[in-house]
Parts: sequence; structure tokens; C-alpha cells
Amino acid sequence: MHGDDDMDRGIYVPDRKTIDEVFDKSTLDVLYDLMSHDHIAYVDYPISSGKEAKVFRAEAPDGTLLAVKIMRLSTAVFREYKKYIEGDHRFKRVGKGRRLIYNWTKKEFSNLKKMHEVAIKVPAPVVFSKNILVMELVENSGLPAPMLKDLQLSLDEMQHIYECVLRDYRTMVKETQLVHGDLSEYNILYSEGEPYMIDVSQSLPTSHHLADELFLRDVSNMTRYFKRCGVETSEEIMIEYITEKEEHA
Ligand SMILES: Nc1ncnc2c1ncn2[C@@H]1O[C@H](COP(=O)(O)OP(=O)(O)O)[C@@H](O)[C@H]1O
Ligand SMILES: [Mg+2]
Repeated sequence: MHGDDDMDRGIYVPDRKTIDEVFDKSTLDVLYDLMSHDHIAYVDYPISSGKEAKVFRAEAPDGTLLAVKIMRLSTAVFREYKKYIEGDHRFKRVGKGRRLIYNWTKKEFSNLKKMHEVAIKVPAPVVFSKNILVMELVENSGLPAPMLKDLQLSLDEMQHIYECVLRDYRTMVKETQLVHGDLSEYNILYSEGEPYMIDVSQSLPTSHHLADELFLRDVSNMTRYFKRCGVETSEEIMIEYITEKEEHA
């Protein structure tokens, strides 16, 4: 599959179906371009296949483990994206069709960058091009980190995760002026005892007309999940912690 010899380096794709579904000609061109510019040495196996994106484990030439998120160029998702990018002051021209997906990819990259810069636990963004976003792999011993929803953890561990997520969300609102917008146990990965928020493509500036609605939905998802895991909390407690002015010790 891959080895030290450069001749061995290439796109390793596990099955034909994957190629047909994700790698249309234009996406393959983008991937080759990222490889020829030494951002990616090889693409390994698929980690996830959703209706909007596929994510692959990959590796950089220097051995850094990567996650390569490939947004589908499908018309079915265009309309859904549009409402979250329209009205975002950073994207004056939303675009149509592929252009919209490219802007969507750029939006996730720029959201990740802002969050990463203020030390929120998110995968470090590496590069983006058209519909492909390359970021650091959130991992445990080289394997992609599991989603919170698939784990059975102790109450102490849950309490720790809860506090980290709350602190990170507070930093997000205060220092990046963004709301996550799709936060749940599906979009939090657990790596070496720490929670990482992912999937920030629909994150919006707090000034956006949908921001309050998305924020309240995030809070409600988190409350439901953490309460179910035994953590004592409520929507009011979370909102107060995230939005109150005073710094916490
Ligand atoms: N940086 C990453 N490191 C490890 N796994 C990732 C990373 N980004 C995404 N994944 C995996 O891929 C899945 C889908 O990615 P996500 O960004 O949530 O896209 P979507 O939910 O829109 O398909 C995640 O649930 C996670 O399992
Ligand atoms: Mg997701």
C-alpha cells in the first residue's frame, strides 16, 4: 500500500465504490494537486461517509497524520448550505453550485483556523482547496479518535469532558465571536482524555440572524447528552457560563 519508497506513494483507495462515489474527475485533480504540492503523501482509508462529506485518514510527507474531508459536489446539499452562508458578512458572494461548496469548504477552514488560534481543542487546519479540507487527524495511537456517542465513560471522565466543552464554547463565543451550530455527541471526538469539537462548517458569527437559534440548539443537545451521562447541569447553567461577562477562575 505504502512504504518508504516514493514510488510506492500514491492514492490508496480501498474499494471501487469509494472511487465512484467521491472521486469525480474534478475532485481527483484537486487531490493530485494537494499531493504534488506536498501537503499529502498518501490517502489511506475512509473514516466516515456522510451525505455531505467523506473523511479519509491520510499522511503528510513529514509523517503527520491527517484527516482529509471531501465535500460532496451534489446538488442535494446546496440548498441546505445556502442559508448558513448567506448573511455571513465574511462571504459577501455566496456563489451557486460548485462555487457554493468551495465557499463552504473555505468557511470550515477559516472557522477552524480562528478557533485553533485561540487554543480551542479542534483539529489544526492544514490547507484547503476547492472542495477538499485537510486538517490534523484527531487520533489515539494513530487511529482516528472515536465520537463521544460511541463511548462508555466514567462519571469523572464525563464531568471533565463537560467542563472542557463548556470552557471551549465560552472561548469560542468570547474570542472568535462564533457559535458552533451543530454540536452534539456526534461532533465531539475523544482523544487521549480530551474532547475535540469538529465539523465547524456551519459555525456562524454571533451577529448572524440564525446564530441565537443555533446556539440554543447546541446548548439543548449538550444538556440532553450530558444529563443522560449523569452530569448535573441544565440549559440555564450552560448559557450563563458561556455568556456571562465575568472570567472564571
Ligand atoms: N480531524 C479529524 N480527525 C479524526 N476524525 C475525523 C476528523 N474530522 C472528521 N473525522 C471523522 O469523520 C466524521 C465526519 O466528519 P464531520 O466533519 O463530522 O462531517 P459530517 O458529519 O458532515 O459528515 C466524524 O464523525 C469523525 O468520525
Ligand atoms: Mg459530523
